[in-house]
Amino acid sequence: MQDQYILEMVDISKSFPGVKALDRAGIKVRKGTVHALMGENGAGKSTLMKILGGLQPADSGNIILNGKEVSFASPRESLDHKISMIHQELTSIPHMTVAENIYLGREPITANFWVKEKELNDRTEKLLSELEIKISPKKKMVDLSIAQMQLIEIAKAISYDSEIIIMDEPTSAITEREVEHLYKMIRSLTAKGVAIIYISHKLNEIFDIANDVTVMRDGQYVGTKRIEELTRKDIVTMMVGRELNQLFPKVEADIGETVLEVKNLTRTGKFKNVSFELKKGEILGFAGLMGAGRTEVMETIFGLYPAQEGEVFVKGQKVSIKNPADAKKNGLALITEDRKLTGLFLPHSVKDNIIAASLDKFLVGGIFMNESNINGICEDQKKLLRIKTPTIDQKVKNLSGGNQQKVLLSKWLLTDADIIILDEPTRGIDVGAKSEIHALMGELVKSGKSVIMISSELPEVMGMSDRIIVMHEGKVTGIVNRKEASQDLIMSFATGIQAT
Ligand SMILES: Nc1ncnc2c1ncn2[C@@H]1O[C@H](COP(=O)(O)OP(=O)(O)OP(=O)(O)O)[C@@H](O)[C@H]1O
Ligand SMILES: [Mg+2]
Repeated sequence: MQDQYILEMVDISKSFPGVKALDRAGIKVRKGTVHALMGENGAGKSTLMKILGGLQPADSGNIILNGKEVSFASPRESLDHKISMIHQELTSIPHMTVAENIYLGREPITANFWVKEKELNDRTEKLLSELEIKISPKKKMVDLSIAQMQLIEIAKAISYDSEIIIMDEPTSAITEREVEHLYKMIRSLTAKGVAIIYISHKLNEIFDIANDVTVMRDGQYVGTKRIEELTRKDIVTMMVGRELNQLFPKVEADIGETVLEVKNLTRTGKFKNVSFELKKGEILGFAGLMGAGRTEVMETIFGLYPAQEGEVFVKGQKVSIKNPADAKKNGLALITEDRKLTGLFLPHSVKDNIIAASLDKFLVGGIFMNESNINGICEDQKKLLRIKTPTIDQKVKNLSGGNQQKVLLSKWLLTDADIIILDEPTRGIDVGAKSEIHALMGELVKSGKSVIMISSELPEVMGMSDRIIVMHEGKVTGIVNRKEASQDLIMSFATGIQAT
């Protein structure tokens, strides 16, 4: 059964103005398997899957489903062929409930078209409990954390009883525990013969769950292999077309005096008595599980929320940061984990986004610097971070997910901040660009700046940090030096088994 192809996509091409997103790309998926689709940011993975999902038409090429040629003019048609999709961008409607979101457009209705609320909620309750997702059907989507929203998207895709489920970076917002949960759901689906197309930049996940791997590069098909035939290095080499030697290039920088000190910071219900110091030239990692309070601590320091207790000192001076503008004045920058909600203006150009946080820099005597200077600076950023876009005037919403992340990073790197807080900076970023961002962090600290990096990826935290602060349920449970750091030690602090 496993050797028959449920899906073949052959010679698929697709162009956008200025970009050939797909150039005779393809994938062949066996029934009941997990098929990983890999490639650098902008390689064309999401575009290929959007064509399969009926969201975009291909310019040319064939889709063969169970031996028969098909084409989809809309998502509806794709769904009717038992294909459903978890999108890379969360697509839920914020003011609707969980149940309304999951069954949008297929709610149970009465003869005169009223939605049968109770039946809708009961049906959702049943679905969620089967999947062991503990979220109430009546909760509004806005009240969920990003991780919970992602679980709901997963549940929604499963609810269609599809034969093929496309998962475009399903774990971008969830941490270890939920990932295990997702694996369990995936295994029970494949056991029933469902095929999963799984897109992720996390190599660990590919080795945990995939049967087959297809790699794309620059819109083209590179190859397909069984997972047993592959090493990590093979995949990376196929993806980037060259060997990547060092995954976490740690730059040695001189560690100087304390630049930021946080004493007994408390925000009721979120975190309690958080204290730490950040030194000049240091990369300070923050590890922990989802809900540990790391993001909340940073948001509070940055003035997005008030603290009930505690003090913050910048370069030895006690400061009172009441809003992000105060934070910026004190030399802080925060790059948020949720780029869609708080970080980027999607309908605006790459250029407008890059300069958005440092407008004052582009003002000379109260008037804007001339356009060509601004363009030059943005072009430099584009080159530095290898942002894949035809021009800097492209709208950010047209960029691939990982390239959007790079625009966000660039926006904050241009500010003159000395203390740069990065919340999950390489989420959704491919291995090649990831090591470039890591190298860039090294440049930052070498030039005397300091970096705080929240990351849920242990190899990244361990590879990049000078010291690691571990949080569990709103408290600091451990501070680990680079030399002592091990996966086990960090996890024992992160799960609250051990505390210093
Ligand atoms: N609607 C669009 N308009 C213009 N260009 C687009 C559009 N959608 C995608 N592209 C371009 O097509 C290329 C492929 O993008 P795609 O989103 O498929 O990449 P990806 O492999 O999913 O990358 P990532 O890992 O970053 O998500 C990119 O260069 C992207 O900028
Ligand atoms: Mg994508």
